Amino acid sequence: MCGIVGYTGESLEAEEILLDALKRLEYRGYDSAGIALIDEGEGVVEVFKRAGSIEELKQGLPPVKSKTGISHTRWATHGVPNDVNAHPHTDCSGKIALVHNGIIENYKALKERLIAEGHQFSSDTDSEIIAHIVEENYHGNLLDAVMKTVEELKGSWAILVIHAEHPGEIVAARHESPLVLGKKFDKVFAASDPTALLKYTDQFIFMEDGQIAHLKDGTIALYDLKGKEVEPIWQRITWSVEDAEKGGFEHYMLKEIYEQPSTIHQCLQGWDEGALSELNIEGTRSITIVACGTSYHAGLVGKYVIETFAGLPVTVETASEYRYSSPKDFSSLHIFISQSGETADTLAALREAKRRGNETLAITNVMGSTITREAHHTLYLRAGPEIGVAATKTFTSQVVILYLLALYIGKRRGKLLSEEVEGTLREIKHLPRAVEAILSKEEEIRNLAEMIKEATSIFYIGRFVNYPSALEGALKMKEISYIHAEGYPAGELKHGPLALLDSSLPVVAILTDDHTYDKMLSNIGEVSARGSPVIAITEEGDREVVKYTEHVLYYPKVMPILSPVPVAIYTQLLAYWTARLRGCEIDKPRNLAKSVTVE
Ligand code: AGP
Repeated sequence: MCGIVGYTGESLEAEEILLDALKRLEYRGYDSAGIALIDEGEGVVEVFKRAGSIEELKQGLPPVKSKTGISHTRWATHGVPNDVNAHPHTDCSGKIALVHNGIIENYKALKERLIAEGHQFSSDTDSEIIAHIVEENYHGNLLDAVMKTVEELKGSWAILVIHAEHPGEIVAARHESPLVLGKKFDKVFAASDPTALLKYTDQFIFMEDGQIAHLKDGTIALYDLKGKEVEPIWQRITWSVEDAEKGGFEHYMLKEIYEQPSTIHQCLQGWDEGALSELNIEGTRSITIVACGTSYHAGLVGKYVIETFAGLPVTVETASEYRYSSPKDFSSLHIFISQSGETADTLAALREAKRRGNETLAITNVMGSTITREAHHTLYLRAGPEIGVAATKTFTSQVVILYLLALYIGKRRGKLLSEEVEGTLREIKHLPRAVEAILSKEEEIRNLAEMIKEATSIFYIGRFVNYPSALEGALKMKEISYIHAEGYPAGELKHGPLALLDSSLPVVAILTDDHTYDKMLSNIGEVSARGSPVIAITEEGDREVVKYTEHVLYYPKVMPILSPVPVAIYTQLLAYWTARLRGCEIDKPRNLAKSVTVE
């Protein structure tokens, strides 16, 4: 996830402060870094940026005496990671420099307009256009120019803007991307999170959506979108730097679980149908999804969803098996899902699928990763870097991308009407709110984790679209708590696993208000008759399940096919709290790596 820092103060130490503070955002992950400084003596803005680390950036940096500047670590979302796409970006005059976090949804239209007006661009980013719009709107007052500029933007942004003719000034704006301001004596700061600034101050203003801030000569003035000054709310933060890197959470995994309302939102915002315009959907008779681990489970959800919305048969294969399978005598669209884009088994399967003459589409979180270079088409999750080994936020983003893809294919194949697509999209847009509601129930989940923490084995059962949820719930539990866990299609229990059930083996049963509900209830009956404690995950309003168990976790009403998203939040938190109560190493479980680059 990108990181932003801004500083202005009396002393000429902007370069040193901006680089030091930026280094404290390294934990967020990045692929390039840059800094812009106002050189008062020369009356210019000096910009230094490059792909690679902050250390590498520092090596080529001349000492610049400056009291005002901005810096940025980029995690690519539009345009590959390279020197030109790195921030800060400048306008045509070179006097304005800007850093941006977020996604500008209408950048293509704005860029076309600016090009027609004679603007020249050097990068492939959506961010660069903002510097050019500020240039258009600038008539001597930088604050006014930025205020006018944000009126034209759609999407999300945290931006910092400086101008060569305004030493001692930074204008900051926020909309759906975090931005904090800090102050100590004559020094004022801005950053994408307080971690960057804890060494310098403990006094912060957390900007709200739609606010614009004017940092000038040691003061901060805050405005709403209409230009009306608003009273800032100062907060004191006493975190240690280490705590702050995890946003105050005990583990990266927990932080990443809590990021999901915003990562799902970002995924929806970043959906880019343009990436699929060349896809030969009309010509394909079937779809094959290939992936490993959690990504494979997302693929299984995708199977139900694509078959439902698009009417195409879908097979899902684990990547390590795909390459040994027999080639089919017809080609199909192959979708490869990989958070990292570097999983060796998935890449080997991708190469084999291409060798067999199939069209390939990658779904990944990492721009510029190997998978993006080798697949014919790519869709990005835009979930920000995931540091915990256990995949959490990227799973829900993968599932959301698959919903959007299924709708897109269904529409292009004439299986869905526009109204049906619009109606489902509206439902999908409610998912961040449903996730938030579950995150507020952590106490309940923790109590259930207390109940199961001594178990030596746990089963997860579900049907239809929540059969993959059961597999994913079990994977999360086993990888971080080291408790043996298995996921089953609920109907399979009686074909063997039922023999293992007794009071020492808890069963997590996932229900959805769809055609599988009654069958799931009778499966729960079978389980509880054997004395197994049942934890049911079901929709709000379910009055039946309490007849079988007192341990019920309710998720807000969603369209049944979308339920794997709220369900995943429960299974992630249950695994997390069980592992934590057992004292496990959560972010780096034994024997596992975040990215498995060997076959
Ligand atoms: C999930 O928690 C694991 N970290 C693992 O199963 C992972 O999903 C798998 O290795 C695939 O990784 P990828 O998505 O980066 O290809």
